[in-house]
Amino acid sequence: MSSQPVVASPLYPMPVASPAGQEDLISAADLSPEEAASLLEFAQHLKAHPAEYRHALAGKQMAMFFEKPSLRTRLTFEAGMASMGGMAFFVDQTQSRLGVRESLKDVAKNLERWVDVLVLRTFDHATVTGIAEHASIPVINALTDLEHPCQALADFMTLKEHFGSLKGLTLAYVGDGNNMAHSLMLAGAALGVNLKVATPAQYAPQHFVVAQAQLIGEETGAAIEVMTDPVAAMVGADAVYTDAWASMGQEQESAARAKVFQPYQVNVQLMACAAPHAVFMHCLPAHRGEEVTDEVIDSAQSVVFDQAENRLHIQKAILAQLLCGATTKIPVRSARA
Ligand code: CP
Ligand code: NVA
Repeated sequence: MSSQPVVASPLYPMPVASPAGQEDLISAADLSPEEAASLLEFAQHLKAHPAEYRHALAGKQMAMFFEKPSLRTRLTFEAGMASMGGMAFFVDQTQSRLGVRESLKDVAKNLERWVDVLVLRTFDHATVTGIAEHASIPVINALTDLEHPCQALADFMTLKEHFGSLKGLTLAYVGDGNNMAHSLMLAGAALGVNLKVATPAQYAPQHFVVAQAQLIGEETGAAIEVMTDPVAAMVGADAVYTDAWASMGQEQESAARAKVFQPYQVNVQLMACAAPHAVFMHCLPAHRGEEVTDEVIDSAQSVVFDQAENRLHIQKAILAQLLCGATTKIPVRSARA
């Protein structure tokens, strides 16, 4: 990596570190409350001043391996890298999973010789942690069955833009206790946002993630609650969030899940139970007529395309910090002065 600052404007401190000390973004819980807040501030700064970062990643190369389809994540990482002068290489990994043709360690030991950062979308979360364990370059989770941290960070950036501040907001998540629910709970807890997660009992979020989020919430004052009643989750909610009832890889369960999840559909009646100023959120792709109705997703309350836009800005911030933040460590306060 370059030892010289490469941008005209100072970068915020490098906020992301895995337990092993390797700089990665694999879980939303990799960010401390301070680091999560700092990342959002930096992303907002970068969004407002994109020209200052046009050459920030000149000469940097990013490889992306995706075992699942993608529109938003692929394009925002590729466009984000290009907009800062870097290059992206996309590898369609949908025909065979990483680690099948050769070990994850051998894959990692090859890749670290060629490129500067890896972006992985996989089924098993252990595939991403396995590559990260052996790679000496940063690894970013672009969605696993367990988590989707980049999406959750873009979502809280969107809420911060909309409400001005995140502290004390309440987000109601209704639907499947999946990767999206997990990352929203972890990032929300870090950022001081209360979470009310309502799912059918058999589709509740994983206990260890709930416990981890509640522990983080004890530090920040965020209440993380899990329940089964979608109406109860709506009470006082500033934001209402839902996601697919059957995630990628669960398509064969779609019909069975549709019956169980019907009471969790975000329609006009359910939205009316939230605060009058509540916004509607969805990571997309949406399954219109299933988890959300057209009336809600197309309403003035919907911020789904703001969320999609902010994928670009938050991921640019993550890339800039992972790839050159370490060379420009300065306090956030100085950066703003
Ligand atoms: N929200 C999201 O990650 O979209 P894609 O699956 O299209 O990347
Ligand atoms: N839970 C969804 C999120 C898509 C962005 C999935 O994993 O398919």
